[in-house]
Amino acid sequence: MKLWSGRFTAELNDIAEQFNDSLPFDRLMYRQDIRGSIAHCTMLGKCGIITEDEAKTLAAALKAILADIDNGKLEPVGAEDIHSFVENTLVSRVGDVGKKLHTARSRNDQVATDIRLYLRDGIDEQIGLLKTLVTALADKAEKEKATAMPAYTHMQKAQPTTLGHYLLAYANMFLRDAQRLIDCRKRVNVLPLGSGACASTTFPIDREYTAKFLGFDGVTQNSLDGVSDRDFAVEYLSCATQAMLHLSRINEEFVYWSGEEFGFLILPDEFSTGSSIMPQKKNPDVNELLRGKCGRVVGDLMSMITVMKGLPLAYNKDMQEDKEPLFDAVNTLSLSLKVFTAFMNAVEFNRQNMNAASAGGHSCATECADYLAAKGLPFRAAHEVTGKIVLYCIDNGKTLQSLTVDEYKKFSPLFDDGILKAVLPKNAIARRKAIGGCASEEIDRQLKVLRNELNKI
Ligand code: ARG
Repeated sequence: MKLWSGRFTAELNDIAEQFNDSLPFDRLMYRQDIRGSIAHCTMLGKCGIITEDEAKTLAAALKAILADIDNGKLEPVGAEDIHSFVENTLVSRVGDVGKKLHTARSRNDQVATDIRLYLRDGIDEQIGLLKTLVTALADKAEKEKATAMPAYTHMQKAQPTTLGHYLLAYANMFLRDAQRLIDCRKRVNVLPLGSGACASTTFPIDREYTAKFLGFDGVTQNSLDGVSDRDFAVEYLSCATQAMLHLSRINEEFVYWSGEEFGFLILPDEFSTGSSIMPQKKNPDVNELLRGKCGRVVGDLMSMITVMKGLPLAYNKDMQEDKEPLFDAVNTLSLSLKVFTAFMNAVEFNRQNMNAASAGGHSCATECADYLAAKGLPFRAAHEVTGKIVLYCIDNGKTLQSLTVDEYKKFSPLFDDGILKAVLPKNAIARRKAIGGCASEEIDRQLKVLRNELNKI
């Protein structure tokens, strides 16, 4: 039965009905919808808008409906949306008193409440998942703080660093993602229920009570805003997109690291798949999917922004389109975080290949220039001299590590024995002690700061 059939004389056209119905997708938030209704009827009872007995009857029946859907006895089908389904079921079970549930409420403030509850649940899960991922990355970074590898700029070997330093870069990104969600949660966790359809209600409701009942930090301050605000959803989707972007970046690196040309990473069998034709193949499908799924969430954000653009106040049916992108983003991010953390715990790195690669591409040239600069040559001039040395190495098939002191001295009298040590990757790493650097003791400090931030979450 429709919740609004009174003023109609004809049934809704079949195709229009199919087009209008949201139950096929909003049934996903039945728990939140029922939780919200239990809070609402309890508040109605407490305020004397319905009797305490009626409130108790409604709450008990709502709890039973929740349990029945949970254990598969009742399936949400055959109604316009989840709100109609729950109310119809309630009326069919308790009779006329069920028709009192919607007193001082509209589906507009109800749906806004439901999606906030749904998002809050998602955010809480994801903050925990991000915390676990950052912990896994930090532990791995600690283990790999002596594994040298090249740092790249423009995908060209740039300077030696360590795998620990590298993994900590991503740990910091995912830490910020968690912090962003914590901040976003503040704006999600405000109760719109009580805004009514748009201009609030004439009943003497107690919104603060409902808010407390549902664990909201407060109530929305303007009913027109309360029913039409989806900023919090755009904000969440933006946070989710950012986390997915980070996942796509690290997984892109892992994809090529796993190839023979790089050989930095050993794909765990449990996280790789084979080819139906090439028997030798072991493919990084999980990492590729983690890279690719970012596209969905970016799309979810774009959908939401586009739906909201130019919408006049207050509720418009366009807003029914908010759910699928939100549900998809929550589901995609949670799943991605779970699988990636499991991958991080299983993956092994090829330390030998990484160490060997760290000196390639004349990546210690900056050390050579720094050496001259420390001896008093202005850095720009030291850069020029070192450029000439690199050219000499390229022309003669040599490396900065294989040159003799005499060869160095041909380029500048400032060189002495010390240069031979300065251009070793392990020394280049050990001397980068400035805040943010890759020296072992600096990595220890960064780990401490990171874990300290993590403990605050
Ligand atoms: N299914 C609707 C939605 O998701 C519920 C709100 C309906 N409100 C209305 N005025 N028709 O947006």
